[in-house]
Amino acid sequence: MKKIAIVGKNGQLGQYLLQALNKFELIGISRDELDLTKTDQIHSFLLELRPDLIINASAYTAVDKAESEPELAALMNDAVPRILADYAASEDIPFIHYSTDYVFAGDADQPYKESDQTDPQGQYGITKLAGEKAILATSAKAYIFRTAWVYSQKGGNFYKTMLNLSETRSELNVVNDQVGSPTYAASIAHATAEIVEKISQGHSYPTGIYHMTCQGETNWSEFAKKIFALNGKKINIHGIPASEYPTPAKRPSYSVLDNQKLIDTFNVQLPNWDEALLSCVKENIKG
Ligand SMILES: NC(=O)c1ccc[n+]([C@@H]2O[C@H](COP(=O)([O-])OP(=O)(O)OC[C@H]3O[C@@H](n4cnc5c(N)ncnc54)[C@H](OP(=O)(O)O)[C@@H]3O)[C@@H](O)[C@H]2O)c1
Repeated sequence: MKKIAIVGKNGQLGQYLLQALNKFELIGISRDELDLTKTDQIHSFLLELRPDLIINASAYTAVDKAESEPELAALMNDAVPRILADYAASEDIPFIHYSTDYVFAGDADQPYKESDQTDPQGQYGITKLAGEKAILATSAKAYIFRTAWVYSQKGGNFYKTMLNLSETRSELNVVNDQVGSPTYAASIAHATAEIVEKISQGHSYPTGIYHMTCQGETNWSEFAKKIFALNGKKINIHGIPASEYPTPAKRPSYSVLDNQKLIDTFNVQLPNWDEALLSCVKENIKG
């Protein structure tokens, strides 16, 4: 494997992918270099670069805003991945893409498997699910990694929002009846890099959807408490039900993803969410 194109290099995951894959020749693609909404330019742009593998870290990720911008969300989350997968199919190169736990309704009581019924509750999940289906309808060697509750030191995310709020607040109400697996973007990038390494060594794996999250589960309120504890912040957190914190998009109450297929197929496992959180905090101390 010579050249890897990372589409969406400035997103939170994109930035960690650039680090984790640095032993490869990387072509990071930003919005400035290629505005993906200009869909007619994507194929010729890639043809010029001739990557040997494409990783799509770009997406429309504003869950609430997607309710009022469903066309733009669909363009980025459905049309663009289809074009990228079509290109990968035409060049016979592997394609890696990320999707979300929000493709599920969230009424389960045990971790979702890849084969479980999807039923997204909002435009973000609807458009991401459409993107999965569009990719799978191509003949690309596509690996779709569904992840969840992504946070890091980069970009906009729950971890950074909580730390920013702690600068001005001593009390916070945080939702305690939505359960999921906070997933450090660096953990996703490392797992992806391990898989890319194996593919580059000639291993072949069944294409399709895989769940890729940190292990274990928690709720937003407990996650916030741990973020503050590890950062030495004294903030009083009051757990509240989601019904007391209305948002434009409905979110799943329970969206833990079963990672067994990822483990069995690639022999790759992400750390426990609280172990990964500690790595994220330490990254800040180092940086
Ligand atoms: N964040 C989460 O909690 C979460 C949860 C589950 C799954 N995921 C999935 O994980 C993947 C990575 O998410 P993330 O959190 O890293 O997302 P992110 O930080 O929002 O990054 C998205 C990237 O897409 C780029 N992009 C958006 N519109 C573009 C356009 N028109 N042209 C070119 N680039 C464009 C953005 O460019 P700019 O930097 O220029 O804006 C940004 O670099 C996505 O597939 C997402 O759906 C995320």
